[in-house]
Amino acid sequence: MGLRQRIPLLRWSFLRLALGVRNISSTGQVGDGREAALRDYVVANARQGDIDDVLATIDRFAYEESFLINVGDQKGAILDAAVRRADPRLVLELGTYCGYGALRLARAAPSARIYSVELAEANADIARDVWAHAGVADRITCVVGTIGDGGRTLDALATEHGFGPGLLDLVFIDHDKAAYLADLQSILDRGWLHRGSVVVADNVKLPGTPKYREYMRRQQGTLFDTVEHKTHAEYQSLFADLVLESEYLGGQKP
Ligand SMILES: C[S@@+](CC[C@H](N)C(=O)[O-])C[C@H]1O[C@@H](n2cnc3c(N)ncnc32)[C@H](O)[C@@H]1O
Repeated sequence: MGLRQRIPLLRWSFLRLALGVRNISSTGQVGDGREAALRDYVVANARQGDIDDVLATIDRFAYEESFLINVGDQKGAILDAAVRRADPRLVLELGTYCGYGALRLARAAPSARIYSVELAEANADIARDVWAHAGVADRITCVVGTIGDGGRTLDALATEHGFGPGLLDLVFIDHDKAAYLADLQSILDRGWLHRGSVVVADNVKLPGTPKYREYMRRQQGTLFDTVEHKTHAEYQSLFADLVLESEYLGGQKP
């Protein structure tokens, strides 16, 4: 990793991201077209039908072309290991962005069905193109909506996609940092987790999800058993981050 890759403050595309923070929360995109550029870059440069090459190409784009808010390669390896341990059949991601995280989930769990909930239709379109290029469009579904939209998205997952009590093996939470706890609570209220289901949460230190972290600390050994993985924020090594991996201790055995 070169100096510009290690120290993101030396990269214009990282500084531009800071200017686009408000844009990200309203539109899901930075505002300079980098997400659409990523799609074009993948189609032009990654081998079709090769998940490894598509992921490596996205990482290269994020390091060399334009910084992206994917889970990234370093935290992605923590996610991969958690997924392999859980060996899931049904996975739910919150926050699709350009489809990178879901692609890692699909690679680490080759027999799973992956659902990813995304606020922004434009991101869903990009992610679907990326998944099609990687050859996994039949296993990953993007549902446009939010868990907090009054039950519409949760109902769609139940009625159109077969979510139900005790069927959800793994949740990857990586969307609106203020919604982590409420959205997990909504999933718990539906009873979709079973004993041994795993919840992985990104960005617990940066930008930070203090209420979620505090909740997991309070539930330690009762409702959840949590490991805090110390790591770095995506695509650089200057800023620290935390990924939480929490095993659900409630519910029925599958
Ligand atoms: C950090 S990115 C997700 C990165 C992705 N998980 C990955 O690793 O490639 C956050 C995404 O969450 C979306 N988002 C924000 N609030 C949301 C919400 N309440 N529900 C669903 N998606 C949301 C944003 O539009 C953005 O695409």
